[in-house]
Amino acid sequence: ARIIDADGLLVLPGLIDPHVHLREPGGEHKEDWTTGTQAALAGGFTTVLAMPNAQPPITNREALAEAHALAAAKAVCDYGIFIGATADNAEEAAGLRDAVGLKLYMGSSTGTLLVADLAGQLPHFERYPGVIAVHAEDEEAVAYFVARGERRPPLCAALAVARALTLAEHFRRRVHICHVSTAHEIALIRDAKARGVPVTCEVTPHHLFLTAADEAHLGTLGRINPPLRSSEDMQALWDNLDVIDCIATDHAPHTLEEKHSPNPPAGVPGLETALALLLTAASEDRILPANVPRLMAQGPARVFGLARKGHIAPGYDADLTLVDIQ
Ligand code: DOR
Ligand code: ZN
Ligand code: ZN
Repeated sequence: ARIIDADGLLVLPGLIDPHVHLREPGGEHKEDWTTGTQAALAGGFTTVLAMPNAQPPITNREALAEAHALAAAKAVCDYGIFIGATADNAEEAAGLRDAVGLKLYMGSSTGTLLVADLAGQLPHFERYPGVIAVHAEDEEAVAYFVARGERRPPLCAALAVARALTLAEHFRRRVHICHVSTAHEIALIRDAKARGVPVTCEVTPHHLFLTAADEAHLGTLGRINPPLRSSEDMQALWDNLDVIDCIATDHAPHTLEEKHSPNPPAGVPGLETALALLLTAASEDRILPANVPRLMAQGPARVFGLARKGHIAPGYDADLTLVDIQ
């Protein structure tokens, strides 16, 4: 056995980030499977679940196989890969056993993946046997506000979450709401959970630690979808951590040049900063320390069925995160 002296260190189950964008194939100038998983390990994550909005997007058997081949050759930590939903791939996606889940964009974001209409969304909720992870912003509402040059208000998220929950309840499908950022979404999810709807959800570090007011100094570096919110919305996330299953970084790197360009892409990196932020919050009594392994290891493992991960126990993978908190 390999013996590691962890004297004086905090020992956590290896952290799992259930939502990262590693950019390969197609965006290797921003990130690839090697640099992204190196960032994960540097930040204390031993498993990452990668989103399918690559270039081309991962929406069929061949693209998923290619992504698995890239990851197998280059990743330095454990991983899973989502299959992306399109308006016409519900049958194929439902048959792909080597995807960790289905990612469905109800609203447009970085990349081309989008299933905006009910006609495209219904077949996925009808068929997909695993976890349906939803980027829950309603495209019609987004388009309405963006056309007026406005930011995407909380309404966009609430409309899409209400629809996703209704579909999950009707078809008894497992839905996972990505990057919950508003009080309204929390209220909808709390109510659905109380009624037994198979829903889980995640929050990002940027929505926990930043508000729209921070855009004054962040400029376009703070541009993400869903956008930074009010301090009331941010506080609602902290006040309702019991409803939240996972912290997910939504690690979405772009180059500085791109972020400072006239039409900057949305997305921020997060793998290397999330654990330090959460441990700082714990040290300041803003959260119970037990929330760190719950939200960053146990929760993601449970939601995405990673049977041998999330706990330090006999029979589990020996994935450990050691932290020198001095
Ligand atoms: O801000 C975002 N960036 N939101 C997303 O949904 C996608 C991500 C990206 O891939 O850049
Ligand atoms: Zn998203
Ligand atoms: Zn994302």
